[in-house]
Amino acid sequence: SHLSPGQFGRVMTQSTEWRRHVPELVEQVLPEVTRIRHRLHQIPELALREQETSAVIRQALAEMGLQAGKPLLGTDVIALLKGPQPGPNVTLRADIDALPLHEATGLPYQSSHDGTMHACGHDGHTAMLLGAALVLCRLQAELRGSVRFVFQPGEEVVAAGKDLVAAGALLDPSPAAVMALHAWPALPAGVICSRPGPIMAAAEFFKITIRGQGGHGSRPEESVDPILTAARVVEALQSVVSRHISPLEAAVVSVCRFSAGSNSNVIPATAELEGTTRSLNLEVGKRLPVVMERLIRGVCEAMGATYDFHYTGSYIPTVNDAGIVALGRQVAETVLGHDGWLDLKHPSMAGEDFAYYVRDYPGAMFFLGMGEASAPLHSPQFDFNDTALRNGITFTVCAALEALSRG
Ligand code: NI
Repeated sequence: SHLSPGQFGRVMTQSTEWRRHVPELVEQVLPEVTRIRHRLHQIPELALREQETSAVIRQALAEMGLQAGKPLLGTDVIALLKGPQPGPNVTLRADIDALPLHEATGLPYQSSHDGTMHACGHDGHTAMLLGAALVLCRLQAELRGSVRFVFQPGEEVVAAGKDLVAAGALLDPSPAAVMALHAWPALPAGVICSRPGPIMAAAEFFKITIRGQGGHGSRPEESVDPILTAARVVEALQSVVSRHISPLEAAVVSVCRFSAGSNSNVIPATAELEGTTRSLNLEVGKRLPVVMERLIRGVCEAMGATYDFHYTGSYIPTVNDAGIVALGRQVAETVLGHDGWLDLKHPSMAGEDFAYYVRDYPGAMFFLGMGEASAPLHSPQFDFNDTALRNGITFTVCAALEALSRG
């Protein structure tokens, strides 16, 4: 039973005894959360292989007296904190996986797993959610309803959030609100930022193999050149967004790999293209591969080549519930002050599998500023900004409590 959008858009509740205690409790847990963040940063693990990471999370939860359930996907950790009074459920999610990058930060706590790195801040997300769990455990006697903590594996590449939701991770009780925080460079450190409606894009991936006929570089007339054909396909694909999608919609088609040939005097038999598309609504997302294939087919036919076109989509657009964004904004402005909130002007064209949580339940993703000096996400220089931990935990705790008190 879903709440209608806007249900959370009411004014802050008055019974907010807990709010006075939160800053002090956050201060108490901050050293431990920072220590855990650095520990997680040292042991980054790729999607669905987060064994050490999930062991650290289980251990931390056990020390709080929270028993995590049996994993649904192997490395997920999910725990439910129940209050003494009946009430709704709020589900909080952190992603726990890392990226295949060689870390170049030179930090004392830099990756000890060569070639793997926390370059997307998931170490910070995980540490903040553990911090929020620590604080909420101390406020348990005042809780109405329950808070579910979801430590989700495989956000990168595999979009395991889809499988986790499909496996029933959010059932019994089903949440009245789901929330997640993501580290965001180029915003002031510690600021909370979001927008109603689409915030992250659908991300899909394609691979095109063009088959021509190889031959001697000196006798092109005897071959079907897959390189020229692929070059024309790359060019034709530029018209998908500019000529087949309304200028009022947002979409991206990027060819990111072009691979063909191995020699300077041989026309190869095949060429390969790979790339990604992005879109903010499902209708535009459905049109992209249809238009792309028509263009590929036309170019290949004209050139006498054939093709294989593989198109896979793992990430749907992340669409925020307006009421929960309004709740987050009120909480951030009330608890963190007026510098605590920024309206996000435009969605990001990056993908995010939290999309599947907010597709099925009312919810919102919020961004947490990493400071203007932060390296970009997915860069070998990126490190989660520890000065943002305090606001991140405070916001998470207060938004959860506010949602419970309204639900
Ligand atoms: Ni991320």
